[in-house]
Amino acid sequence: MDSIYGEHAAQLEATLEKLLAEIDAIRADMSAATGMDPVEHTLGRIKTEESMREKCRRQGLPETEASALETIHDAIGVRVVCAFLDDVYEIRDRLAALPFLEVVEEKNYIRHAKPNGYRSLHLIVRVDGRYFAEIQLRTISMDTWAALEHHLKYKKDVRGNLNLITGELKRCADELASTDASMQTIRDMIRTM
Ligand code: GTP
Ligand code: MG
Repeated sequence: MDSIYGEHAAQLEATLEKLLAEIDAIRADMSAATGMDPVEHTLGRIKTEESMREKCRRQGLPETEASALETIHDAIGVRVVCAFLDDVYEIRDRLAALPFLEVVEEKNYIRHAKPNGYRSLHLIVRVDGRYFAEIQLRTISMDTWAALEHHLKYKKDVRGNLNLITGELKRCADELASTDASMQTIRDMIRTM
């Protein structure tokens, strides 16, 4: 079967590498300015053929290059995990200021958490006026929660009361959010001493 990305696979890889290099540069610049690395880790991936086709089917779209590159915007995905909330927003601002990158949509699931407790700042960006990418920015706490929730979601044989588990997960998400806010306050206090 032909790739759903047609002739664009190499270009998608190159665009991902460009984004990751740019995030590294932002990271180095912020580290030099503050003496503290704002990023805990970064991940990048091109959505696999299989999951892109699955997403097309789920959304009732034809399995075409146009669906994969124009209608769906996360063929390229980047995740930036930060220690502190402030860093999430500073990196967002620095990304948005890049000349070759346009933020076409921002979904702020930090300000407005999903009902299950999911938090992250999602940017849909267009690079070089061509390829779309989804950039997820989150704190370590948010990342920990999302990893656990993802794990449970795909566990078919979760035993016990689902409502109870869902409620406990939500409570953890909210406690982690409150801890993130406290950690940020502590950092601000250290900085102004
Ligand atoms: P898809 O979820 O990708 O079909 O697109 P969407 O338009 O619903 O985007 P949304 O912003 O909801 O989520 C995009 C991505 O964010 C997902 O693919 C996940 O990586 C992440 N995400 C969103 N919601 C959750 C959640 O409840 N739990 C976890 N673990 N990750 C989530
Ligand atoms: Mg979704």
